[in-house]
Amino acid sequence: MIKVGILTASDRGHTGERADESGKVIAKTLSEIGAEVVDYVVVPDERSIISSHLKRMADEQGIVLVLTTGGTGFSPRDITPEATLDVIDRQVPGIPEAMRAKSLQITPRAMLSRAVSGIRNKTLIINLPGSPKAVQECLEVILPVIPHAVEILTGQTGECARK
Ligand code: MTE
Repeated sequence: MIKVGILTASDRGHTGERADESGKVIAKTLSEIGAEVVDYVVVPDERSIISSHLKRMADEQGIVLVLTTGGTGFSPRDITPEATLDVIDRQVPGIPEAMRAKSLQITPRAMLSRAVSGIRNKTLIINLPGSPKAVQECLEVILPVIPHAVEILTGQTGECARK
């Protein structure tokens, strides 16, 4: 069972002004593939708050996959990629590259996503965009590779070759 954490970065979501539909989309989609959502927070767009939650999820809860939503664009308060870079040891550029490549077939605005992805110890952190539609579209890109990514990360396999 893949242990998942969800972090929604949204000032308005945090104060309750806006419902967190994107976090719900992530939770529903991940439980459909048999993952277990063990932590879920809605936090303001504050770099130190986001990074401390990412650290907590990775270091204290054995969460293998953290998915963030929101704060990857150009608004002055959008800071999720920087908070993520603060806590990861190794970047995984192929994941946001793949999400942007697929998303560009849907909207040219996908090039405005500054999302990053990376590994902290045995935890993979992936930034998703903020809208529920964009989240769904990006999840479709990454879900097929998540089981293998988790297998390698947790040492269940060191073998990538296909038979
Ligand atoms: N990716 C997909 N698949 N679909 C979308 O509609 N919207 C884009 C982009 N990525 C979009 C997408 C837009 S409009 C922006 S501004 C950036 O994601 C950043 O989104 P965020 O600020 O909500 O995180």
